[in-house]
Amino acid sequence: MKRIIIDGEHKLTGSIRISGAKNSAVALIPASLLSDEVVAIDNIPDISDVEVLSQTIEYLGGNVKRNKELIELSLENLTNKPISQEFSSKLRASYYFMGALLGKYKKVDIYFPGGCSIGARPINLHLKGFEALGAKITEQGNRYIIEAPELKGNHIYLDVASVGATINIMLAAVKAKGETIIENAAKEPEIVNVATFLNNMGAKINGAGTSEIRIKGVDYLGSCFSEVIPDRIEAGTYVIAGALMGENLKIENVIPDHIESLLFKLKEMKCDLKVYDDYIIVSKTDNLEPVDVKTLGYPGFPTDLQQPLTPLLTYCNGKSTIEETIYENRFMNIDYLNNMGANIEKIDDKHITINGATHLKGAEVKATDLRAGACLVLAGLAASGQTIVNDVEHVLRGYENIIEKLTNVGAKISLEEI
Ligand code: EPU
Repeated sequence: MKRIIIDGEHKLTGSIRISGAKNSAVALIPASLLSDEVVAIDNIPDISDVEVLSQTIEYLGGNVKRNKELIELSLENLTNKPISQEFSSKLRASYYFMGALLGKYKKVDIYFPGGCSIGARPINLHLKGFEALGAKITEQGNRYIIEAPELKGNHIYLDVASVGATINIMLAAVKAKGETIIENAAKEPEIVNVATFLNNMGAKINGAGTSEIRIKGVDYLGSCFSEVIPDRIEAGTYVIAGALMGENLKIENVIPDHIESLLFKLKEMKCDLKVYDDYIIVSKTDNLEPVDVKTLGYPGFPTDLQQPLTPLLTYCNGKSTIEETIYENRFMNIDYLNNMGANIEKIDDKHITINGATHLKGAEVKATDLRAGACLVLAGLAASGQTIVNDVEHVLRGYENIIEKLTNVGAKISLEEI
């Protein structure tokens, strides 16, 4: 087990450079399978999810070369093979092999994906999309065999604007016959990143980033060069760290538009924030005002930032609220924050009230999932005394070099293996 130890209340000053987006990189790597040539992707973060996906590409006969942030995938000699449960359950993004292998070979044999336990996280919309393209699905417990004699474009409406389903249907549809239209598509920047990547390979996708995506099937996808966009959730997490403990903390390589909903909330709280074209400077300030936050699909407030925001809300003078509308189980950080001296009431699975201001004190806590872990690391940076965050494997999965990045700006933080 790995744990992070933080000696709190140290000022954060200097600059933190944001890495490539986890949730883009984990889609681009499986998407590369659709190419029959060599694809190069720059700005790939050095996180374990990328490692696991790269190993799967190699298992399928691809060749993966990595040079710092650049990854080159040679895909000329692939074969379609079953993906084991051991692999599928390692991460959520294993589900992108469904769309990619189905799109390329018209058949995939795979298991239900893993990922953080933050709610039910069904994949019914992914499957409904594949069926609409002509696939037949055989479920054997957790195993899915999905095959189609031929994939044909169709008009698909998503009941929920799901990021994963939107990307997976795009992957399955790029080489299908005719046109596919996805209605009520998710609009997250990661979807635009994947569509641009596929278009660079020769796909014909229009409308990514809006709620209607149109895909005209093509026969062949070739080589391309693409870049992963900066990670908006990592950027948001460090901007919040700056609001808690920063002294002119510079967050670099950010697309501010991608975190506009967070920046508006921070301004409403009267945080000291200066936003430039591709960087943000943030400092701690007293007398923060309470706010109400409701998580929504993009461009609404991201569910992935509600847990990291919570420690800052404990420092606001008055009652803040969070309504979580995406997941059923994303408040597992709250008991730990209360152990650290916060005064947060869980109203139900979807609502909490944060009564501030309180001052956080160090405690021993546990990262139950990736963003809960990020929340507790931020809490530890602001808290007096020592905080120990146990089970941080989740955190390391999503934040490249978090210890180095925070140490470089003055945090007293270390990683221990026990
Ligand atoms: N949903 C369904 N049926 C489906 C798919 C989704 O009902 O077939 C529901 C989910 O239960 C959830 C909502 O739709 O209530 C949204 O889920 P979505 O499919 O958009 O999420 P996801 O694709 O599983 C990705 C990110 C998550 C992020 C969400 C929302 C990846 C690998 N994961 O998950 O990232 O929270 O989009 O933005 O891209 C994280 O990074 O910590 C993380 C959990």
